[in-house]
Amino acid sequence: MGIKVCIFAVLAWVSGLVFALQAQVREQQIPSVVQKDGRYALMVDGAPFLILGAQANNSSDWPSTLPRVWPAIEYLHANTLEIPIYWEQFEPEQGQFDYSQMDTILAQAREHHVRLVLLWFGTWKNGSQHYMPEWMKLDPQRYSHVTNQSGESVDSPSPFSVASLDADIQAFTAFMQHLKAVDTERTVLMVQVENETGTWGTLRDYSGAAEKLFDSPVPIEVLKAMNRISVANSSWRDAFGPDADVFFHAWAVARYVGQVAAVGKAVYPLPLYVNAALRDPFKGAPGSYESGGPTDNVIPIWKAEAPAIDILAPDIYMLDTPTYLKVLELYHRSDNALFIPETAGTSHAARLMFSALGLEAIGYAPFGLDYTQTNHSERMVPDAPNAFLDPTAQNYKLLGPIMRDIARLNYEGKLQAVAEIEDQPAQTLHFGAWDAVVSYGGSRGGSPKGNPEPIGRALVAQLSVNRFLVAAYYCSVDFRPAGTEEQQKSQHIVLGAGQTPSALIDGKWQHRQFLRVEEGTYEDGMFVSNRILNGDQTDWGLRFNAEPEVLRVSVATY
Ligand code: DGJ
Repeated sequence: MGIKVCIFAVLAWVSGLVFALQAQVREQQIPSVVQKDGRYALMVDGAPFLILGAQANNSSDWPSTLPRVWPAIEYLHANTLEIPIYWEQFEPEQGQFDYSQMDTILAQAREHHVRLVLLWFGTWKNGSQHYMPEWMKLDPQRYSHVTNQSGESVDSPSPFSVASLDADIQAFTAFMQHLKAVDTERTVLMVQVENETGTWGTLRDYSGAAEKLFDSPVPIEVLKAMNRISVANSSWRDAFGPDADVFFHAWAVARYVGQVAAVGKAVYPLPLYVNAALRDPFKGAPGSYESGGPTDNVIPIWKAEAPAIDILAPDIYMLDTPTYLKVLELYHRSDNALFIPETAGTSHAARLMFSALGLEAIGYAPFGLDYTQTNHSERMVPDAPNAFLDPTAQNYKLLGPIMRDIARLNYEGKLQAVAEIEDQPAQTLHFGAWDAVVSYGGSRGGSPKGNPEPIGRALVAQLSVNRFLVAAYYCSVDFRPAGTEEQQKSQHIVLGAGQTPSALIDGKWQHRQFLRVEEGTYEDGMFVSNRILNGDQTDWGLRFNAEPEVLRVSVATY
């Protein structure tokens, strides 16, 4: 009898231990943004991860609307849904937190095997305070608005309201505490703090308290950040002239958001970011854009005042190619990972996603991609209800199976990607001994003319010296031994028998030959080959059309 009891006790102890170990295994590492040699990765479950995301419409995170969100996410092949948590729903009475919607979205995301980025619609939503709970909206004396130059209250929260800041800190702390407690699976990858912070219609707060600070010396950390230490002890106007109002408002908003973020991060150190309503990077004069948010001209102020924010992220709705590319360049910095939390779901933006990948973007998410139709309903064509999803879906079908590889290769500096640019029928990517030439709109052996609409895009990664991974749409990709710079400029890619891409190297012509071109995909980090392409499929370079195709290519010279 005694022995039996003893055996049962040991068995119970062992199974308890096994259970505890399993629980530990299930408790995944907290996602993080890491940096190496100036390149970034979003680490998820211990490895680089590429967010192939979609953002839901603003009012989609309700039990009644979620059934019209998930089918769109599935159709898109998105791996991440960006969706808001509304302060008014989260804290309907002061200090009474309602976690139900957070729990619902977490449970449903897990059922659908999709990760989440939660958007904290707190003090700011597109510059307004529309998501503040009623008990705050009804007390504007305490939770004050920005005052404009004429002394009127405007539709924007004041960054100088201590009561609003305290309330946001309390609420965001509860949010992060709950997330930490219920998300040991790490379904949530990042949290966006506020939404498009800043103010429309006035450059800054002109309340008495704000005026006093505006006339005081600029804080030293702002001068350092903006490289203006020479004007120490100057007022904002004296230090920054016509930019003073905008810089001052950015400082005030960043300081507020920085405090909310720091408290949340101390509770649960998830990656945090803020999204920016952009200014025109070529001609964005003060007054023409939302003032106070992380626009490109105040990035250093935001970095100095809100260090708990990992990423300043552009919402890109200015879709002409030069502006889009300029924005990508401005937010791809050694102190900032490139992440696009909002953009249009058009085919134009979908092709430029490849330009973002070429700048090591850690994620991308077009806005309003669900079936709730509350936004952009004009895009819902009756006979083609998925037309507004198709451009993004096409990209994600190609990139989904290789997203871990793209993120890893980008982090290792081995990947380059490009989108077709108007009037530029070919682009050359340099990989040491090899150049990859991407050309658009060419016929077999003829010179590329560009596609009728610029829709081409390509991604090339160097797996070893002579081996590449290529994924592309609407273009042709070929490899050429890297010659001299002059030769590269003058040489056209001419494909056809006896005219392989070649280069004169050390006085000797070197010609490219394909050793092996394999069509396949990656599964669990291993390339699985379906067939070897040769003959007509490779004689004129590697041609990509509308089908998602991933090729592994080995090249040599003769
Ligand atoms: C940008 C905002 O961040 C989103 O919440 C949404 O309002 C879109 N604009 C609408 O196009």
